[in-house]
Amino acid sequence: MTARSSVRKAVIPAAGLGTRFLPATKAVPKEMLPIVDVPTIQLVIDEAVRAGVTDVIVVNGRNKHAIEDHFDHAYELEHTLRERGNARAADEMAAISTLVRLISVRQKQPLGLGHAVLCAREAVGDEPFAVLLGDDLIDNDADPGIGQLIRVHAETGAAAIAIMEVPAGKEHMYGIVAGDRDAGGRMRIREMVEKPKPGTAPSRWAIVGRYVLPPEIWPHLANTPPGAGGEIQLTDALRELAVSPAGMVGVVVAGARHDAGDKLGYLRANLAYALKRPELRDAVLALCREILAGQGV
Ligand code: UTP
Repeated sequence: MTARSSVRKAVIPAAGLGTRFLPATKAVPKEMLPIVDVPTIQLVIDEAVRAGVTDVIVVNGRNKHAIEDHFDHAYELEHTLRERGNARAADEMAAISTLVRLISVRQKQPLGLGHAVLCAREAVGDEPFAVLLGDDLIDNDADPGIGQLIRVHAETGAAAIAIMEVPAGKEHMYGIVAGDRDAGGRMRIREMVEKPKPGTAPSRWAIVGRYVLPPEIWPHLANTPPGAGGEIQLTDALRELAVSPAGMVGVVVAGARHDAGDKLGYLRANLAYALKRPELRDAVLALCREILAGQGV
């Protein structure tokens, strides 16, 4: 499903160090780690494209070539696949390079998520845009997660961000928002705090890695000093936007969310996506049973 969208451009920050996934991320960005056999960032770009996005700006760090190469033509590979009679795989490879118009910008130092988004300012310009974290997955085949936020933005004119309720005691791991929820479950956000100290969180509503932002975010980002962890935090700039006249709406997005930047979340995502594949489902279930039986579980 490709919707006509008021939001044409999406920023995908992929310049983090990925320390939780070392050594796998020593030479490969964590956004390139596969979910079954598809790089996480390809699933994220697919979500954006299905929501009507035409231009994707990837913010790259030190391992930028892996991502650029993946979305480029691979003539030799396609040629060899065709020579070997595997036209289907060759077509699939060719389709990846025509998925979207991809612009690559560089974040020279990993100074934080807010700084990474700011690196895309020139490429985005003076229009509303989407931000999708390249290690955060929202699985919804019928209604892509970012498309749900684009609709809320089109309806309200406000910035729209995805939120989810997290278990008590886990708030310190997230950006936390608080505000008034309406009957439809949307939250008019009044307060935001990045990784609150245990016991100080204003709610259990956490920010998920999907945002639709107006261009008014740029000066806020440019003026944001380093915050939690010494990084320039997107949440700190968002707080300024939330208290501006246009405001900010938190939306519980429909879809299965996976944090593929975390080891357990990554394994969970692989299992969930494998179980969705008809050609793999039974074999994966049998494999799980076999492993559990081997562990005496
Ligand atoms: P994370 O904090 O999850 O990524 O940032 P990280 O720092 O790479 O991971 P760990 O904690 O060391 O394992 C969320 C997103 O923001 C990007 C990351 O690539 C990730 O997609 N990011 C973060 C940047 O692009 N630049 C930064 O300076 C920081």
